[in-house]
Amino acid sequence: MAKSSKNLTLIAGGRVITAVDDYVADVLIEGEKIALIGEDLAGKHGIAADTVIDARGKLVMPGGIDAHTHMDMPFGGTTSADDFETGTRAAAHGGTTTIIDFAIQKKGSTLTEALDTWHAKAHGKTAIDYGFHMIATDLPRENLKEMRRLIHDEGVTSFKLFMAYPGVLLADDATIFRAMLTAGEEGAMTCMHAENGIVIDEIVAYALEQGFRSPKFHALTRPTQAEAEGVNRAIRLAEMAGAPVYIVHLSSHDALKRVKEARDEGIAAFAETCPQYLFLDYSHYEKENFEGAKYVMTPALRDKSNQEELWTGLRMNDLQVISTDHCPFCFKDQKTLGVDDFSKIPNGGPGVENRMSLIFNGGVKEGRIGLNRFVEITSTAAAKLFGLFPRKGTIAPGSDADIVVFDPDKKFVISAKTHHMRVDYNCYEGLEVQGAAEVVISRGKVVVDKGQYLGKPGDGQFLRRSTTQHHVKESATKRLHRYKD
Ligand code: URP
Ligand code: ZN
Ligand code: ZN
Repeated sequence: MAKSSKNLTLIAGGRVITAVDDYVADVLIEGEKIALIGEDLAGKHGIAADTVIDARGKLVMPGGIDAHTHMDMPFGGTTSADDFETGTRAAAHGGTTTIIDFAIQKKGSTLTEALDTWHAKAHGKTAIDYGFHMIATDLPRENLKEMRRLIHDEGVTSFKLFMAYPGVLLADDATIFRAMLTAGEEGAMTCMHAENGIVIDEIVAYALEQGFRSPKFHALTRPTQAEAEGVNRAIRLAEMAGAPVYIVHLSSHDALKRVKEARDEGIAAFAETCPQYLFLDYSHYEKENFEGAKYVMTPALRDKSNQEELWTGLRMNDLQVISTDHCPFCFKDQKTLGVDDFSKIPNGGPGVENRMSLIFNGGVKEGRIGLNRFVEITSTAAAKLFGLFPRKGTIAPGSDADIVVFDPDKKFVISAKTHHMRVDYNCYEGLEVQGAAEVVISRGKVVVDKGQYLGKPGDGQFLRRSTTQHHVKESATKRLHRYKD
């Protein structure tokens, strides 16, 4: 067959799975986009591709979207160990083709300065496409127009606010409400770190006074009620603001109940959980030789009984998204900052590379969710919530050719010895999982082929995201106008 001049790649004979589809077909990529899907495109339609990928016996799915990562993030007196180059390469190895990371506004400086700083960190470095949420720490009324500018001119259409970390990232309720009102008016999403940090800090101070200093006290000073209270407050503030809200890294059954309640009332409340809350638990903090520090992350790992409740939440759509909150710190050089004081251990753990295999194994293989739901929670739902759909998150003509050819039978053992994340441990060390990304395609380019990285820094592009449109009830401020004299 003659070679074409159109840069055609044919993924042949795979089982195409989206959030709603399941069929065997060929997928033709032209340049960066999906061009055509059909049966036997070479034989029956005479398509002569430049590259043919044999996908028989494999799943052909939208590339993963990890809506919560922290590359190159200054935090807890140090900086997360993966930068945008190493972290996105590791993500690609695991079958993720888009991340949404977080720019952080320093108190006293502008949102635009924060965005410029994060663009400089990421530009020209990433293996896959990326977007930014904006962490807003300082939002007086006069800054709200800047928030609107980010949404409409910069493609930054989601904002994270913190109820935790007083004095560093915490935003008070007035700030949160202002942000939500503005986000609601503009079609943006507010993401909430929902934990009552003021109460938690009181418990931490008490623990330290008592001389309780080992890693397990990180978890013991952060009760699930502090998370549930934060989740409830975030949802009720969003309800008053007439805005949707997205709870990040939800970790406990207590918190999930608050989301479920709100959704049953018809409130636009959404939430993600992360693999660490499905596979790891409090007992990891009791490891000897300070090893518990590896699992110091916020919210903390919970009692094991929470895990099955979270899986149920995923199955029943009370939780919509699986992200990683990838925020790695090396055990030897960084976690040891808190060797004498758990409150000084940098908060966060690695995971961007392992998400797809872990969720496939624990979800699909172990019979908790089906394949369509797997795609929905690892890719499609995040694309819809964060203004990337249908460009990302599905396999359809016209969509970006972000595709993972996934081997559902391949078994491997997760280990820091073989992972690609720039961190000296893996939270799932020694765990055997079934299901692995075999070929990973990012905007038409094969970036990983059977474990071999074929991409280069700068293959990934910044994603200007569109707004997220959700029906919400009238805000408390709009309501005033109905009563005007
Ligand atoms: O421990 C965590 N989660 N570190 C990252 C920052 C955050 O709150 O997401
Ligand atoms: Zn957070
Ligand atoms: Zn985070």
